[in-house]
Amino acid sequence: MNKKTLLSGVKPTGRPHIGNYFGAMKQFVDLRGEYENSYIFIADYHALTSEKEGFDIREDSLNLALDYLAIGLDPKKVTLFRQSSVPQVTELSWIFSCLVTMPYLMRAHAFKDAEAKNKEVNVGTFNYPVLMAADILIQDTDIVPVGKDQKQHIEITREIARKFNIQYGLTFKEPQEKILEETETVIGIDGQKMSKSYGNTIPLFATDEETEKIIMSVPMDSKGIDEKKNPEDYNLYKIFKLFATSEEDIEIREMFEKGGVGYAEIKKYVAGVINDYLREMRERRKELENNGDYVLEILEKGGKIARERAEKKMVEVRKKVGLV
Ligand code: TRP
Repeated sequence: MNKKTLLSGVKPTGRPHIGNYFGAMKQFVDLRGEYENSYIFIADYHALTSEKEGFDIREDSLNLALDYLAIGLDPKKVTLFRQSSVPQVTELSWIFSCLVTMPYLMRAHAFKDAEAKNKEVNVGTFNYPVLMAADILIQDTDIVPVGKDQKQHIEITREIARKFNIQYGLTFKEPQEKILEETETVIGIDGQKMSKSYGNTIPLFATDEETEKIIMSVPMDSKGIDEKKNPEDYNLYKIFKLFATSEEDIEIREMFEKGGVGYAEIKKYVAGVINDYLREMRERRKELENNGDYVLEILEKGGKIARERAEKKMVEVRKKVGLV
């Protein structure tokens, strides 16, 4: 087993859809057990930077934990915790804030985007990469699996580690990102990339009925029932492919290619295949929902492990900085 430490954070984003699942979530779970120390945390401090009215971070965080446990994250192999269980990161973030300059942070994409969209960016958003550096460096992380939009944040993290090490002596490791390529670009029911903002999603944890209703609404064309069709021309087929075994694929290709099968029937078949594929994780999520104490216990346990490791590092940092 790889002795290195892996760490990554995820922000609560609301109800996940199958695009989130195949694009990112699944890959986290697939990493399990590869590294001796794996930490995945729910970035609730970071979520505060974009807090809107009506949001409930506590609730969203618990839901995110349920989502990950339901899709197969194994809490025995991965330490799962809430970022706010490690308040030491805010302390370290302050120390880092005194090392990096404003012009340097002003070049961060996330800040530039936020500024372009909204006139009054909060200081938390500006400091976002610094808190992220603290998350990573406080745990002596080697590898950070992230989407490519986060690459710059890891570069900033390395820069902060270097600056600290030069000023106070070697303390932090320089971590490497592991870019999670979107192996599957999941399209929505309208053929655009699946995204909540396009309203074209299929929720991961929907009921069978909800899923079927969405599948029945996927636009097709006006070809007659007996006409031969090419499955590749249909969004329905592209979505289906994510879930299908090769036998199921052969079966549906026949329905399209031979003709004689109506779209409603094909769609029923697709909905059935999707629901079968997702059944186990949906059931597991239900079970976990009814077992809130167990989930809280996992988060508390994980939090304790992460906090103790962070505190140990902070003892060293405070000493080096001259704070004790
Ligand atoms: N910024 C990350 C995102 O938006 C979440 C995050 C916070 C993170 N802290 C982290 C990721 C530390 C990796 C490591 O997805």
